[in-house]
Amino acid sequence: MLLLSRDDIVRVFKMPDAIEAVKTAFAMVSSGRCEVPLRTMIQAPKRNGAFLFMPAYAEDLDLASLKCINQFPGNIDKGLPSSPAQVLLIDGTSGLMKAIMDGTTVTQLRTGAASGAAFDVLAKKNCRRGALIGTGGQAASQLTAMVCARKLEEVRVYDLNWERTRAFAERMNDELDYYGVRIVPVRTSDECIEDADLIITVTPSTVPVFDGTKVKKGATVSCVGAYQYHMQELDPALLPRASKIYCDSVEAVLSESGDLLQPLDKGIITRDDITGDLGNVILGKLAGRENDDEIIIFETVGVAAQDLVAAARIYELAEKAGAGLRWE
Ligand SMILES: NC(=O)c1ccc[n+]([C@@H]2O[C@H](COP(=O)([O-])OP(=O)(O)OC[C@H]3O[C@@H](n4cnc5c(N)ncnc54)[C@H](O)[C@@H]3O)[C@@H](O)[C@H]2O)c1
Repeated sequence: MLLLSRDDIVRVFKMPDAIEAVKTAFAMVSSGRCEVPLRTMIQAPKRNGAFLFMPAYAEDLDLASLKCINQFPGNIDKGLPSSPAQVLLIDGTSGLMKAIMDGTTVTQLRTGAASGAAFDVLAKKNCRRGALIGTGGQAASQLTAMVCARKLEEVRVYDLNWERTRAFAERMNDELDYYGVRIVPVRTSDECIEDADLIITVTPSTVPVFDGTKVKKGATVSCVGAYQYHMQELDPALLPRASKIYCDSVEAVLSESGDLLQPLDKGIITRDDITGDLGNVILGKLAGRENDDEIIIFETVGVAAQDLVAAARIYELAEKAGAGLRWE
């Protein structure tokens, strides 16, 4: 069995690889070529946490995977990841374990890549400005995916915690220097989304994190953070303005996310307003953006196929590079 650390993974698996892997994963889910039972979630209210178990099996790849990912939103203030995880990659011909890899890193990369895939497929060709709300553990890969998907001049970043916002912007200006994009920390959510063509929200918020009436025409909005009914980042005021709403998996989103479940229950939208899975756009079975004025929403709660396809690709690249530690 191969053990792969964060360093091993980031050395061999870059964001463009992650975006391709996630597009493949979404297409496999939509065409029924990956078995992804809804994840099992056990709440730990005493610690304001949750344990999530996410299995997947792809017959075509002869691979299965299981990710154990836990959500402890208080961790960020203790210097620990809020979404700690491990991914187990399993040989589908024998059932033997092939690898254990740092799932916190896999999650960051494949979750960023979900926004990257959505922007790649759904955003206007010409975008100038981006907005990122939330500068915690998932934020760096979200921002990297955004600037991989479209050539941007500026991305404004905002978080409730100003010191985190400022430090994040400083670090990302260095890390993303190659892309020639300015990362600007701002003090309000309004300033953040002003004139933005691409918007990402990646927070554990239970109230909308931006004003939907201020989103400009033609914007593509990726909402990443809300994975339970009581959680909400998306301002319902944006829903009637949006011409299309896509999900990583409609089934998964409608079993978990307050972003769409709350507005459905309040009658702000109906099930027919949800356009469908991004995978079907990738497969050419469903229309994507039809003009540069449409506001498009992408809602992602994460599906296990993302972990499976990303882990499969990481394993392949790591083997080729001789990365990781053999443990027999
Ligand atoms: N969709 C997926 O596949 C996926 C995968 C992993 C994590 N997540 C979710 O994404 C969210 C963020 O994860 P993380 O690991 O980055 O969390 P984190 O705790 O590391 O960071 C969250 C950040 O959001 C900020 N924040 C909270 N409320 C805010 C608000 N109203 N406005 C602006 N900023 C606010 C916090 O100050 C913090 O900096 C969590 O809800 C997590 O469960 C989703």
